Amino acid sequence: MRTVQWLDGKLRMIDQRLLPGEFRLVEYADYREVAEAISTMVVRGAPAIGAAAAFGMALAGQQSDAKDADRLLADLRTAADVLRAARPTAVNLAWAVGRLLRRAETEQHHQNIRAALLDEAQRLADEDVEINQRMGIYGAALIRDGDTILHHCNTGALAAVDYGTALGVIRTAHEQGTQIHVLVDETRPRLQGARLTAWELQRYGVPFTLIADNAAGHFMRTGQVQIVMVGADRVAANGDVANKIGTYKLAVVAQANGIPFYPVVPTSTVDLSLPTGDDIPIEERPPEEITDLIYQGRAIAPEGISAANPAFDVTPSRYVTGIVTECGIAYPPFDLSLREAVRTNR
Ligand code: MRU
Repeated sequence: MRTVQWLDGKLRMIDQRLLPGEFRLVEYADYREVAEAISTMVVRGAPAIGAAAAFGMALAGQQSDAKDADRLLADLRTAADVLRAARPTAVNLAWAVGRLLRRAETEQHHQNIRAALLDEAQRLADEDVEINQRMGIYGAALIRDGDTILHHCNTGALAAVDYGTALGVIRTAHEQGTQIHVLVDETRPRLQGARLTAWELQRYGVPFTLIADNAAGHFMRTGQVQIVMVGADRVAANGDVANKIGTYKLAVVAQANGIPFYPVVPTSTVDLSLPTGDDIPIEERPPEEITDLIYQGRAIAPEGISAANPAFDVTPSRYVTGIVTECGIAYPPFDLSLREAVRTNR
């Protein structure tokens, strides 16, 4: 089943905060609630929040009582601002909202705008699945029999509409019969690796071992990792990659040990308007995500302390071996190869 889907006039999503303990579907008929669901990480992962926001725009069209196109477009622009503000780092969110607005602006009649929004959101969601499957095939060619792949965060079906990016590659390699093993970073503080990636890999029957984030360097230095694969929330024009906090450390240690490091990234995650990763906004999440983690029934940190919680970091492109996209694998110089990939696809 899809992580994000339209059903009977509503947006239906898996509440990812409850996994792996509980599989619960939640329905939304109000775009403001969709924005809230993105902020609170009911839905998370760059492509998934893009698709959720696209359906959020379709809901905004339904919610508006405008009887003419101009008023409806004004309501849609208000909704677009609310949805875009839900999370700052993943560019897929602004990309999806912008795509829906542009489609709305091509229609003359208010009822046609409402129909066009839904059509475009559905199209975007369907394309996401197809793009992930294409990246799966390109990326799987990088994986050899017997490889152990180090993976960070969750980049699977839960992080997209379906199938996933880096985890989609891993899944494709497994489905092709390649013997692989995955080292799953637990991914503090929200534990997307321990909770979500482990849940997905178990369902797909892919052999894996969960590790503490701090163990990744040890496994790389001792020759137990052949390739690192991650997703991304935004890639700058020069190939700098913003992804879940901790990715940068992995890339540096991978390079120090001669291990290839590949982000798997749909071109909707590439932001050619930003020359380097220094310009990518990094989301700062509530400190309670760190301090209030429960260990043996209690919050791990003393009350009243301060904690910093940047949710993403930027890996400079010099640590990136190649970037798997739906148009093939981009290699350095990334300013040329990424521009070419985006041009091919838009
Ligand atoms: O904070 P999250 O869980 O939304 O972060 C997700 C990631 O960092 C993923 O690696 C990224 O969105 C790519 S997912 C296909």
